[in-house]
Amino acid sequence: MDTFIQIAYLVATGLFISGLKKLGSPATARQGNQWAAWGMALGLAVTLFDHQIMRYEWIVAGIVVGSAIGVYIARKVEMTAMPEMVALLNGLGGGASVLVAGGEYLIKDPYLFSADSLFTIGMSVFIGGVTFTGSLMAFGKLAGKLPGNPITFGGQKPLNGLLALVAVAGSAGLVWYPDSAGLVLGVTLLALVLGVLFVLPIGGADMPVVISLLNSLSGVAASATGFVLNNSLLIVSGALVGASGFILTMIMCKAMNRPLTNVLFGAFGGDGGAVAGATGDGSKSIREAQADDVAVMAGYASKVVIVPGYGLAVAQAQHVIREVASLLENKGVDVKYGIHPVAGRMPGHMNVLLAEANVPYPQLYDMDDINPEFESTDVVLVVGANDVVNPAARTNPASPIFGMPILDVDKAKAVIVLKRSMNAGFAGIDNDLFYKPNTYMYFGDAKKSLQGLVTALKEL
Ligand code: TAP
Repeated sequence: MDTFIQIAYLVATGLFISGLKKLGSPATARQGNQWAAWGMALGLAVTLFDHQIMRYEWIVAGIVVGSAIGVYIARKVEMTAMPEMVALLNGLGGGASVLVAGGEYLIKDPYLFSADSLFTIGMSVFIGGVTFTGSLMAFGKLAGKLPGNPITFGGQKPLNGLLALVAVAGSAGLVWYPDSAGLVLGVTLLALVLGVLFVLPIGGADMPVVISLLNSLSGVAASATGFVLNNSLLIVSGALVGASGFILTMIMCKAMNRPLTNVLFGAFGGDGGAVAGATGDGSKSIREAQADDVAVMAGYASKVVIVPGYGLAVAQAQHVIREVASLLENKGVDVKYGIHPVAGRMPGHMNVLLAEANVPYPQLYDMDDINPEFESTDVVLVVGANDVVNPAARTNPASPIFGMPILDVDKAKAVIVLKRSMNAGFAGIDNDLFYKPNTYMYFGDAKKSLQGLVTALKEL
C-alpha cells in the first residue's frame, strides 16, 4: 500500500508542476488550474488509504462541509474581490498547519520525536500562525473592513524582531524540553500577535504583494508540517507554493521598482484610492477631448493600442472596452492591448478582467513586447491607468517612481487618457503625460466614456 501511495504522490507532484508551468500563459492557465486540481484530488484520495487513519467520520464531515463552503464562495465571489479571497484561503492554509502540527504534537509521546521534528513543529505553528492572522488582517484591509492606512508606532520594527526571535527560541527550546506543551502554546500565541503587527504598518494598496508573500509563507508552513508528518506530498506541494509565491512577490516588487523591504517596512500608500488627491498646479495646460473627437481619431487610425489600468477595474468597463475594440477592428483598425505587469492592484488583474470579457489572448501584449510598437502607433487609449504610463519614471530622477519600467505611450502619435479627474494614481504623484501636446484628456467614468465612444463610433 505504501508503494502505491508514494507512486500516486509522484503523479500528483507531476500534475502540480505541469499545472504551475501552464499558469505562465493566459492561453493555458485554465488547463493548468485543472491539472493542479486533479493532482490535489489524487493526493487527497490516496492519503485516505494511509494506515494511520482509523476512522473516517470526521474526514467525510470535513470534506462535505468544506466543499460546500468552497463551492458557494467560489461561485459568489466577484472578480474584483479575488485578492481578498486568496488572502482568506492563505490564512486558512496557515491555520491548518498550526492545527495539524500542534495536533500531531499533542497526540503523540513528545519523547518519540527527533530533535529536528520538535524544532519543525515549533516552526510550523510559528509560520502558520503568522500567516493566519497576517492574512486575516490583509483580508480586512482589502475588503475595507479595517482601515487601509499604514498604522505605525515607535519601536514597531524592533518589537516585531524581538517577538520573532523569542518564537524561534521557543521552538528551539522544545528540543530540550520535549514535553513542554506550554512552549508550543506560547509560540502559537506569539505568532498570532506577530501576524497582526506585521501587516499593521503596510498600506492597503500594498496588500497584493503582502498576500503573495503570505501565500509563500503558507507553503513554507505546510512544507514544515509535511516534515512533521513525514508526508512527501505535503513537503513538495508546500515547497512549490513557497517558491512560486516568493517568485511572484519578487516579480511584483521589481515591476514597481521597489525593494521588498520598502513594501514591508516603508509604510507606503494608503488604501489604494487616489492617495494625494488632485494634482496639477493649474499652471500647466491640458487638452480635453469628447467622445466624437476620440471616435474620429481612433476610427480613422490604422493602429490603436489600448492600455488598461486600475480605473478599468473600478469602472468595470472590461466588456464595453471589448465592444470598442470590435468596432475599431470592423473599421480595419489594428487593435492591441498593452499590459503592464503591475497595472491594477493584483498580479494579472488586467488579464483576468479582459479574459472575463473574452478579449482574444493574442491581442494582449506584455510591456516588453508592446513598448517598441508605440512609435508606430497612431492612437493610444489609456483607460484608467496612471502610474504605469507616467514618463517621470524614465525622465525624473526625483520622482518616487523613477526607474519603474513603464509603458512608453507618450511615444505614440496621439494619446487619449480616460479618467474622471486630474487625481493621482496609487503613487500619489502628478503625471507629465497629461500635459504633453499629443495627449488629450477624456474625462468621466471609464465605462460611461467608453459607452459614449461606442455610440460615436457607430455614427462615424
Ligand atoms: P493607478 O496609477 O492607481 O491609477 C488609476 C487611475 O484610475 C487613477 O488615476 C484614477 O483617476 C483612475 N480611475 C479610478 N476609477 C476610475 C473610473 N471609474 N473611471 C475612470 N478612471 C478611473 O493605476 P495603474 O496605472 O494601473 O497603476 C497601478 C499602481 O498600483 C502602480 O503604482 C503599482 O505600483 C501599484 N500596485 C500594483 C500592484 C499590482 S500587483 N498590480 C500591487 C500593488 C500596487 P481618477 O480618480 O481621476 O478617475
